[in-house]
Amino acid sequence: MNETYGLRINGRDEQVREAWLGESLLYVLRERLGLPGSKNACEQGECGSCSVFCDGVLVNACCLLAADAVDAEVTTVEGLGAGSTPVQRAFLDEGAVQCGFCTPGLVMAVTDLLQRTSDPSETELREAISGNLCRCTGYGRIFAAVRAAQQGDAQ
Ligand code: FES
Ligand code: FES
Repeated sequence: MNETYGLRINGRDEQVREAWLGESLLYVLRERLGLPGSKNACEQGECGSCSVFCDGVLVNACCLLAADAVDAEVTTVEGLGAGSTPVQRAFLDEGAVQCGFCTPGLVMAVTDLLQRTSDPSETELREAISGNLCRCTGYGRIFAAVRAAQQGDAQ
């Protein structure tokens, strides 16, 4: 059975029309609401490429039913700013982006980390991005980007 329902995404009210209630938030964001920033890779909660904030909590959008987010405030990578946040600038400045497929999810995870603690330890950093898989960078430039964002080096 299909239903129409509302979601609050990036500070805007959106209508999801005549949709199957079994659709994931990731599917609805990408295929129904035109927000492709959250990437679709594993659809099993393993890669972190689909990370979004749901009421301020970092979640994998592929593992959450969109209909279960009806009363939540959802923020996607598009809602952070068009490349303008310190974390986004640090990823660019430090060369932490290669194919870029993992980048939105990593930006969300690092943003979450730095919102929770302004001076994360190496262990906290590694734990924070342990759910985000990157097959290109070897993570060295990603760690450098986090340190740059943390120290306010990103301009
Ligand atoms: S696509 Fe959601 S965790 Fe991989
Ligand atoms: S930059 Fe390609 S997967 Fe991370």
